[in-house]
Order: sequence, then structure tokens, then C-alpha cells
Amino acid sequence: MLRVSTALTFSALLISSLPAAAADNATTPTFTKDIAPIFQQKCESCHRPDNMAPMSLMTYEEARPWAKSIASRVGARQMPPWHIDKTVGIQKFKNDRSLNDDQIETILAWVAAGSPKGDPKDMPAARVWKDESGWSMANKFGAPDLVVKSPDYTMPPVAQDAWWRPSNATGITEPRWVRAIEIRPVGKNARKITHHALARLQQPEDMDPALFTNDPNVAGDGLFMEWAVGKNGDEMRPDSGRLMLPNSKIVWEMHYHAVGEEITAHTELAVWFYAKGQEPKHREVLALFNTFSGSAPGGRSLDIQPNAVTTTESFVTLKQNARIENFQAHMHMRGKGMSMEAIFPDGKREMLSQVTDFNFNWHNMYIYDDDVAPLLPKGTILHLLAWYDNTKANRSNPDPDQWVGWGDRTVDEMGHAWLNITYYNDEEFKTETAARAAKTVNTTADRQQQ
Ligand code: HEC
Repeated sequence: MLRVSTALTFSALLISSLPAAAADNATTPTFTKDIAPIFQQKCESCHRPDNMAPMSLMTYEEARPWAKSIASRVGARQMPPWHIDKTVGIQKFKNDRSLNDDQIETILAWVAAGSPKGDPKDMPAARVWKDESGWSMANKFGAPDLVVKSPDYTMPPVAQDAWWRPSNATGITEPRWVRAIEIRPVGKNARKITHHALARLQQPEDMDPALFTNDPNVAGDGLFMEWAVGKNGDEMRPDSGRLMLPNSKIVWEMHYHAVGEEITAHTELAVWFYAKGQEPKHREVLALFNTFSGSAPGGRSLDIQPNAVTTTESFVTLKQNARIENFQAHMHMRGKGMSMEAIFPDGKREMLSQVTDFNFNWHNMYIYDDDVAPLLPKGTILHLLAWYDNTKANRSNPDPDQWVGWGDRTVDEMGHAWLNITYYNDEEFKTETAARAAKTVNTTADRQQQ
């Protein structure tokens, strides 16, 4: 009885699905027509020969063997590396490299259909990648005023990932205002091993520390610039700059990854200054806010029990009116998520950003679009929440049976947000909020379209 009905259902299914299958065939995405344009736009910046990703995705023959892995990484929104939660908070960023829902669906449908090649005639012309060995900002500003070079690092063919933190003096003898910066890996095949390169400006500051940190151990640190593929340079907003002081140094952090051949690389940071005597109105400050509190000097309290999920939070009251330019979560291998919420002086609360599926390989900087960068009056409380998964459910976890505390090593933990902040006095802030309000009609319309 059962067998008959199953057979019946099966043949009924077959018949009823025939026309649908035929229709599907007509719309099945193919590599040449539908996938190649997406890969050119969203993947080739890294997935091309001699670049950082493990394989090239420029041709069908190169991409086909990776189809399953592509479906899994793209479906989980782990590739392209852009891990901000799309359902929470602000969604417009200057450096967004993510795929939209349609593109994800197209890729998944292509893999599900057996990754067909399609008609070779549909294949778009190969995208030409420009030579990245020069400074791209030189077109606009000429040769850089200052170039700081990190020491060389030699990565053996096979080794664990390395996070390397050397430092160099900038050699600056008088305060200078920075208008643009650019950072790049240098050396034969340097891009292959350089996952990320960060340059942090460390200098004595006479600013109120509350404006840039809630950690008594952090003195004048600031993250100057992070290099990310596809984003060559960073030009300050109009009439804004970063201040570089005498006796400053650049503290580097490079994430190097072995690729089967020995490669020697270093990183260079180029700086373009405002003319001497030309002082921009606004100073951009880089802030480090811990996502836990109660840190006594010398000992940062972070207590992550084995086989458990731990949450920590902190509250930072803004002492001046602020415009937050970006969000960057910093945690290590147990780090799972981090959110940043604003509690306004009138009690209104707004979730600004959240990373829900943090991936330690990728220290992504999420730079807000000009029209949506949060404008927060002084007295606003930033509520930072972080969660750590120290169970075996977390695939990056090296050992769920270990207790984990604060520390530099990747097997220890950290928890902080890096934020670029522009502070405003009351009058400037009024002007800034009025300008924003004038754009609100457009912004609301944009949001509705998304
Ligand atoms: C910013 C650079 C970058 C971009 C953009 C990028 N990738 Fe990747 N991708 C990498 C790197 C580096 C790795 C290896 C490290 C890792 O897995 O995080 C990787 C790994 C992968 C893997 C896993 C390979 C394996 O070993 O199984 C897949 C699949 C993948 N990428 C697909 C894509 C696709 C598809 C796109 C575009 C839609 C894309 N990536 C965009 C850098 C990038």
C-alpha cells in the first residue's frame, strides 16, 4: 500500500515538475553570464593570481573546483569578508564589499544546478587590475611627504599564521596635520601573505584620556590607518585631519599567512600633510573602548570560563559632542559578537552596529557613509556588549576546556571597539546636525528602498 502510494506520488511529482524544470533551465545561472560579473566585482580584488586569497576565481576552470566551498562561504556570509550584521543598525558604509541578497541567491542557485559554464560568448572581458606598486593618492597629492617602512618579515613556506607587531619612529620634529594616508604591502608577492596590515600612531597626548579610551593602561595609542584590499587610501573629510606629534611612532600589526613558498615582505605607510600653518578645523581621534569594565591598571579583568558562553559589557559616556566615523570589533578566537548601542541623553536608544559572526581572520573596519555616521550629543552613553563562545560549538576554538583571560596572544582574549571620532563644540555640532536634518528626507527614502 505504502509502496504504491509512494510510487504514485513520485510519478505525480515527476509529471508536475516537468514544466517547472524546463522553465528553471531557462533561468539557471551560468558562470559566463551571471557569475563572472559578480566575481569580477566582489572577489577578484583578492582572488586573483599573486594576491592574498588561496585561489584565483577569474576563470570558469579556476572557480569550478571550489563550487561547494563557495556556496558554503557565500551562503554563511563569510565571503566576501564583511561580517557586520545586515539586520541590525546602520547599513550604509563607504567600504562595503558584501554581496546583496540577489547576488547570494544567484551564486547558490548556480552551485545547486551543478555550476554550469554557460555560453562562452556571454563571458565578460577579463577585468584589468591596475598596477598596485605605486601610491594611488599620488595622482591627487603628488609624492608623499613622509613614508614610514616596517622592518622586513620572512614567512617560511609552511608556518602558523603570524601577527607581527614591530614599531618605527616617525621622525617628525614638529606637530603636523595629516590630510591623507595610504598603506601597502611591499616586496615580491607580499600581497600573497599579507592578510591585513595596521599602522597605529602612538604618541604622547595631552588630551583628556576619556576622549579616546576607557582603559587606564592605554595612554596615547591611536590606530592611524588600516590597509584593506580594495581601499587604497584614506583621505580625511573636508577641514578634518589627524594630528601627528613629535616623538610619535608607528606601531604595526601585520597578519601574515604562509602560502607554500618563502616570501619576504614589509609594509609602507605614506602620509600627506596639510601645508605648514594650515590647520583643519576638526581633529579626528582614534579611540579604543574596552567592552568590559573594572580594569585596574596593569590587570584587565576578562574572565571566560571553560565550556561556556560569556558576555561582557561596558558603558562610555561621551564628554563631547561626537561623530562616530567607523566601527571595528577587536577580539580573538573565542570572540563571537560585539554590538554598539547609543543611549541618548533623552533616554532614546539606538542600536548602531553589530558583528554577530566575528571571524578573527578579518579585522574589518566598517566605515559609515557620510550621511549616516552617528551624530551623538555629549552625555550620550555608548553601550558596548561583547560575547565569547568558549564551547566546542565555536569552530575557531582551539580548546574549550581552557579558562581564558585577557592577553596579547591569540589564544588569550581581548575585547574592544576601535572608533574614529570627530569631536565638535556645541556650535559646530548644531551646524552638523542641521546639515544632516536637511538631508533626512533623502536618507529616509534611501532606507525604505533597501
Ligand atoms: C578581501 C579579500 C577577499 C575577498 C574580497 C574575497 N575573498 Fe575569499 N578568501 C580570501 C582569503 C584571504 C581567504 C583564505 C582565508 C580565509 O578563509 O578567511 C579566502 C577564502 C575563500 C574561500 C575558502 C577557500 C577554501 O580553502 O575552501 C572561498 C570559497 C572564498 N574565499 C570565496 C570567495 C568569493 C566567492 C568571493 C566573492 C564573492 C570572495 N571569496 C571574496 C580573501 C577574499
